[in-house]
Amino acid sequence: MNNKQDILVRGDVVRLIDAFYNEVRKDPVIGHIFNEVVSVDWDAHMPTMYSFWSTLLLNEQTYSGNPMLKHVALSKKTPMTNVEFTQWLKLFNTTVDELFEGATATMAKQRAATIAELMMVKIQDAVAV
Ligand code: HEM
Repeated sequence: MNNKQDILVRGDVVRLIDAFYNEVRKDPVIGHIFNEVVSVDWDAHMPTMYSFWSTLLLNEQTYSGNPMLKHVALSKKTPMTNVEFTQWLKLFNTTVDELFEGATATMAKQRAATIAELMMVKIQDAVAV
């Protein structure tokens, strides 16, 4: 029986993002970027990510920031290539599918893929300059 629900409220986003970063932090391909390259302040970063995704998926409008600039800056410190983005997306999609099912869950995966693609283009442009 399939009893997965869709992403409906901020609490669902929290559950998704907590589970995702649980995987990210121990991932052999991208974990070190969060743990070593940037020593991420998790107490600050997690609420930012809850707000980012709640804004994208639930129209919450609690996030303001410029993720593109942040990731272009990050790409100057550590390789941010197709390899890293593919792994990020794999972990994200797997986490979504493990926990949720529905239109918003599908949208989450689509938005992640589109933004990742755009980030890669911005990073490439920045490298080319
Ligand atoms: C290889 C892939 C990625 C890596 C290694 C990565 C890494 C990071 C790191 C280390 C930070 C924390 C920066 C800080 O606290 O100073 C961050 C922030 C963030 N990331 Fe990523 N990221 C990746 C892909 C993505 C993608 C695809 C998205 C969106 C779909 C995304 C959305 C964000 C957002 C919204 C922030 C917060 C920016 C802010 O502070 O306003 N990231 N990322």
